[in-house]
Amino acid sequence: MKRSENQTARYDDRPIGVFDSGVGGLTVVKQLMKRLPQESIIYFGDTARIPYGTKSEKIVRRFALEDSFFLLDKGVKAIVVACNTASANAIPLLEKVLPVPVTGVIHPGAEAAVQRTRNGKIGVIGTAATIRSSTYRKEILRLQDGLQIVSQACPLFVPLVEEGWIEDEATYLIARRYLQPMIDNGVDTLILGCTHYPLLKNVIQKIVGPQVNLVDSGVETARVVEELLGEHHLFARPDHLPDHQFFLSDLPYKFQEIAERFLEQSIPHVQTVNFEQFLMEKGETFWKAYEEELAAFI
Ligand code: DGL
Repeated sequence: MKRSENQTARYDDRPIGVFDSGVGGLTVVKQLMKRLPQESIIYFGDTARIPYGTKSEKIVRRFALEDSFFLLDKGVKAIVVACNTASANAIPLLEKVLPVPVTGVIHPGAEAAVQRTRNGKIGVIGTAATIRSSTYRKEILRLQDGLQIVSQACPLFVPLVEEGWIEDEATYLIARRYLQPMIDNGVDTLILGCTHYPLLKNVIQKIVGPQVNLVDSGVETARVVEELLGEHHLFARPDHLPDHQFFLSDLPYKFQEIAERFLEQSIPHVQTVNFEQFLMEKGETFWKAYEEELAAFI
């Protein structure tokens, strides 16, 4: 249901919670702000524990839960997992346990790819933990059986983007190597399955060729969030003035520069949280509250 179709006049001005392992999730925030300008957003970037992409499934699931606890504590009405690695490893757990609607980035990206492919060959690139989980592959095949999927982990893309080496010679060299299997297998649709990869769109498009359709999970996720808010009658009032808040578990080196690259605007005020202290003070209460549901997963 679209915002304009919401005729029930039930509104909810509470913020949407968005989390990521760092500041890359701001690519998703940018799309949310564009699509749902009346919604307030509370963003949590777990910069103290980034990267998630090199970690085990078990650790990523625990981190995703703890990040969600932080957002719940801030009173959010829904949670968007902007991190592909956390989405790939923790969505079933979060959907089962959390008391608010949740969406990740995998289903929206997979759905768009299935709709767009013409030759039935879809490429997926992401962090090592995302590719290892095979979640994109499973979701694509669940939506449409019989498609060919070519997956490739591209672990060097995240540091290249953070360093700002977007159109660099070294980036082209590395991208050519990672993307060769996509060219060899003739994929016509490629999912950019990591928060950082939309920034490399130009480089990737030049290498795979203009005929390949690139799927930006952030754009697709904003569309799904709109649907989710509609289904649950959670839209903010149409004249609501949004108030965005940004929290990080550490203030990283060159933060403003990196964040602006992702959000394409400056971030007015960022609050650093002592996340360890938050978990010490409130973590146990949250774990206890969901103990039964968690037992099946952890
Ligand atoms: N946010 C992560 C993702 O989208 C990339 C950075 C990381 O490895 O934590 O998979």
